[in-house]
Amino acid sequence: MARAAEPIRVVVTGAAGQIAYSLLYMIARGEVFGKEQSLILHLLDIPPMAGVLEGVVMELSDCALPLLRKVVPTTDPLEGFKDVSAAFLVGAMPRKEGMERKDLLSANVKIFKVQGEALDKVAKKDVKVLVVGNPANTNALVCANYAPSIPRENFSAMTRLDQNRAAAQIASKFGVPISNVSNLIIWGNHSSTQYPDASHGKILIDNEWKNIVDAVGDNSYLEGPFVETVQKRGAAVISARKMSSAMSAAKAACDHMHDWWHGTAPGKFVSMGVFSDGSYGSPKDVVFSFPVEIKNKQWKIVENLSISNFGRSKLDLTGKELEEEKKEAMSVLDSN
Ligand code: NAD
Ligand code: LMR
Repeated sequence: MARAAEPIRVVVTGAAGQIAYSLLYMIARGEVFGKEQSLILHLLDIPPMAGVLEGVVMELSDCALPLLRKVVPTTDPLEGFKDVSAAFLVGAMPRKEGMERKDLLSANVKIFKVQGEALDKVAKKDVKVLVVGNPANTNALVCANYAPSIPRENFSAMTRLDQNRAAAQIASKFGVPISNVSNLIIWGNHSSTQYPDASHGKILIDNEWKNIVDAVGDNSYLEGPFVETVQKRGAAVISARKMSSAMSAAKAACDHMHDWWHGTAPGKFVSMGVFSDGSYGSPKDVVFSFPVEIKNKQWKIVENLSISNFGRSKLDLTGKELEEEKKEAMSVLDSN
């Protein structure tokens, strides 16, 4: 296939930070938008990081990547978001040991107001926005609210890292490659109230796709250590690394945007934080992680999945937390 003539513009915020350091390379290699799609990368950070940004630009240049046509380092959101087709909103403060992600709300939510306004003014109207910076779901909600000229469906929050973590737990339990595991679901918030749900998941063992529930044999693992390990994995990484996850977060951001851009395979679904329409008894108008199928760059919530009593209580809990975060975010923004 011939290389696409027109490069697309893609912005990464927090471009001088640790997630971006892995993410920029993966995007520029063609792992998200395809090996034929040339790119102009916009690198947005804050003024004190301008010098570090220059170093990142040098390194990108020295990677000698054929798809990368141009790099635009900037500390001005209006330049950073100008004409972009895809936006990775990574730039925000990470949590430290002992904090919950929602403790970042008052520091980070204002960033997403400013960036929503800038996207509204200068980005392409069909821009696909992925919010990674925590608390990701509520930041995505705020960002979309301040960008009324861009459809709400174009804003999403990242729970793909949680999905990948869940898949890695199952693959390792059965000693199979990660590609043998599919259709795990992350419901709700990217927080310790998220509900990692394997009840509709499939696993390929001995050349046969089986229900994970049948393969495991009883629910005590899937409703116990499996859920807890995934919920607390971010904190476990912080405790070990003294910094929050970065390489795995960058990989998950690539997976999320890749599937949004190119679609999901028939019968497969992935999890994304998207505007809730109240599906599965979730609160409306919060950004809630659902299983989605994607076609022509449009996601659609997978319908009619059964929810157990255990699942119901978990969905209610994470939905309640998202409503509380929304209230708190609005009061932070009102007081500014
Ligand atoms: P980092 O501190 O290494 O980098 C953050 C960067 O953002 C810094 O360079 C900082 O200067 C920049 N920044 C701050 N305010 C900005 C603004 N207004 N505009 C542009 N840039 C700005 O942090 P990191 O490890 O890269 O993590 C970034 C965020 O991603 C954190 O909030 C972290 O909690 C979150 N995160 C989310 C997930 C997820 O699964 N959703 C996973 C990992 C990390
Ligand atoms: C993660 O899940 O690793 C990130 O959200 C970082 C964190 O604070 O846990």
